[in-house]
Amino acid sequence: MNPGARPARSCEPLSTDVGNEGRDRPPSRSRHLTIPPRFLRAFPGHPLEVAEARHFVERALADCPAVSDAVLLASELATNAVQHSATGEGGAFAVAISHGPGRVRLTVTDDGSGGHPAIAAAEELATSGRGLVLVDCLAVRWGYSGPGERGRETGRAQKSTVWFELACL
Ligand SMILES: Nc1ncnc2c1ncn2[C@@H]1O[C@H](COP(=O)(O)OP(=O)(O)O)[C@@H](O)[C@H]1O
Ligand SMILES: [Mg+2]
Repeated sequence: MNPGARPARSCEPLSTDVGNEGRDRPPSRSRHLTIPPRFLRAFPGHPLEVAEARHFVERALADCPAVSDAVLLASELATNAVQHSATGEGGAFAVAISHGPGRVRLTVTDDGSGGHPAIAAAEELATSGRGLVLVDCLAVRWGYSGPGERGRETGRAQKSTVWFELACL
């Protein structure tokens, strides 16, 4: 991360009205902005495609001061899509990027799973369980939408989306 890209801050909400939603309560399932995506691309559900997604975000947000954080968090969400959803079983994930006033919103849509994103309490030396902690620390807001359940009748997972917003001033 480029420390000059934005002021250093701890894992605290930026202000009382735009706090990190995953900290004290479950992340919002529906309150994110609905701005049409300016950039949208689908990737095969293979671990090597996470690097492609990083390059996509880097290019799309080249002029945004928050590009480093966006690339890092997008990488974590893309990795989760491949690791924790049906995306990694021959599916795909999609990355969409949109801008609002002073904000950038990035979503990663996967092929769904029986679970949903949840911040885990990682042990000090654990090598996993930190992706959503990073999202929660760096994003102004984040959350997820979608059923997070396998369809009862079809047995197939239904798509779900994890999103975050960063300040881009
Ligand atoms: N896209 C997703 N679909 C379903 N579950 C997810 C998804 N992303 C994250 N999770 C759940 O949230 C947990 C925490 O994710 P994360 O903090 O990235 O740690 P890790 O991926 O190392 O387990 C995962 O272990 C998984 O159970
Ligand atoms: Mg992860």
